[in-house]
Amino acid sequence: ASEKRETFNSRKLFILSAVGSAVGLGNIWRFPYVAYENGGGAFLIPYLVAILCAGIPLLFLDYAIGHRYRGSAPLAYRRANRKAEVLGWWQVLICFVIAIYYAAIIAWAAMYCWFSITKAWESNPEGASGFFMQDFLKVSDDVNVSFDFVGRIFVPMLIVWLITVIIMVAGVNKGISRANAVFMPLLIVMFVILVVQSVFLPGAIDGLNAFFTPNFEALQNPAVWAAAFGHIFFSLSVAFGIMVTYSSYMKRKSDLTGSGYVVAFANSGFELLAGIGVFAALGFMAQNAGSSVDEVATSGIGLAFIAFPTIVSQATLGGLIGVLFFGSLVFAGLTSLISILEVIVAAFQDKLGWKRTPATLVVVLPVACISLILFPTTTGLYLLDTMDAFVNQFGILACALVLVIVFGAGLGMLPKLAKHLNRHSSIKLGTGWKVLVGGIGPAALGYMLINEVQSKINESYSGYPLWFNGVFGWGMAGALIVGAVILSFVPWSKNSKINDP
Ligand code: PHE
Ligand code: NA
Repeated sequence: ASEKRETFNSRKLFILSAVGSAVGLGNIWRFPYVAYENGGGAFLIPYLVAILCAGIPLLFLDYAIGHRYRGSAPLAYRRANRKAEVLGWWQVLICFVIAIYYAAIIAWAAMYCWFSITKAWESNPEGASGFFMQDFLKVSDDVNVSFDFVGRIFVPMLIVWLITVIIMVAGVNKGISRANAVFMPLLIVMFVILVVQSVFLPGAIDGLNAFFTPNFEALQNPAVWAAAFGHIFFSLSVAFGIMVTYSSYMKRKSDLTGSGYVVAFANSGFELLAGIGVFAALGFMAQNAGSSVDEVATSGIGLAFIAFPTIVSQATLGGLIGVLFFGSLVFAGLTSLISILEVIVAAFQDKLGWKRTPATLVVVLPVACISLILFPTTTGLYLLDTMDAFVNQFGILACALVLVIVFGAGLGMLPKLAKHLNRHSSIKLGTGWKVLVGGIGPAALGYMLINEVQSKINESYSGYPLWFNGVFGWGMAGALIVGAVILSFVPWSKNSKINDP
């Protein structure tokens, strides 16, 4: 008993949901620092080249596969070629790993909205960093897996998962579209207010100068170009199975390429805005500390949970800055988490041939349980760090590389997919797209992957013990591949639509 496959009610809702997926934590806490580190204003050049030559072409590849074969990643790939199914399960498992720790970060950010009002970190003698590590996460000194629970993190994580389960059960239109229709406008309004407020802080101009001043010499450094390409794959959520899944819910006669450009540039616009807001705030922080912007500039967890709380304490109306900043992280994170989970839900729904509700519950509840067992613990931060480094920076590069090789050189499907993309699209693709996906794509991805593997082997990640990286880094990466192979051999249910066009 399977039900009809849902489609997004309108093109607008598809675009909104795809932007919701693309605009995530990376836009807010990753892009500003990557750009600053890699040439400042001059980074715009490799960044634009990476978007046009790799990001958007790969986004179109995802759209073409999902829309042409109308299935979750494993089903769509399988319909393209029986042997490609395993690639889809690999993406499903990568999404699983990301989902279990993404929920933790969203929960922290939600708590920090509240702390921005109470200024909870001011009671710790070491300020924001002491509060985050000791009082809030209660991080243990030993790097291991303790299962030592921290109640004040468990509860908000549980709430995040409850909200997420409700959205996922409700389905593509009543759940995903609606959540994005509420969260995205909220995110944009909050973020614009935040950026305007930041720009008027004293010292903001120094931050903006640091961010925009171009260092053209950086353009001669291959690492700068690799950073641009690496960031854009991550930022557009390509090669995760996410865009394959979402585009499989687009109506048959859809403008695929036009939608893709809108999504890509909306994502970039948001990143640029974040760069302005974040560096304006860092300029203020530097002025207060009597130091240079370079000394206070960071990214990721350090930026969000240590630098920003400091800014919140020092700025006039700092509480408002905090609520807007952490609220933005929550909404940006939730809409991305939903898209990651949909990859998993859709895959199992297809394979089992079940209805939406039971399929969602059978998938999301175990994922939520694993997340709730591993991360609200005194060692959750270590796990999160290692898993993120391996899956996000390394797993997706490997996955993207295999994807372009399989669909390009391997199966020779690019001409067919280009034809599909062009059928109802406003912007037509020519030979250029096939060259970019089939040639430039594998070359750029291969180069970055080799670099990444080398650096992972050379330095024990974050100085963690070798066994820890061995188990939760390399071991997990290997387990994902073995798991994907096993899942691809599990037979499809009789109810699944495996043989439908
Ligand atoms: N694209 C998101 C960002 O820029 C990150 C993301 C990666 C979201 C993978 C979902 C899956 O933050
Ligand atoms: Na992004």
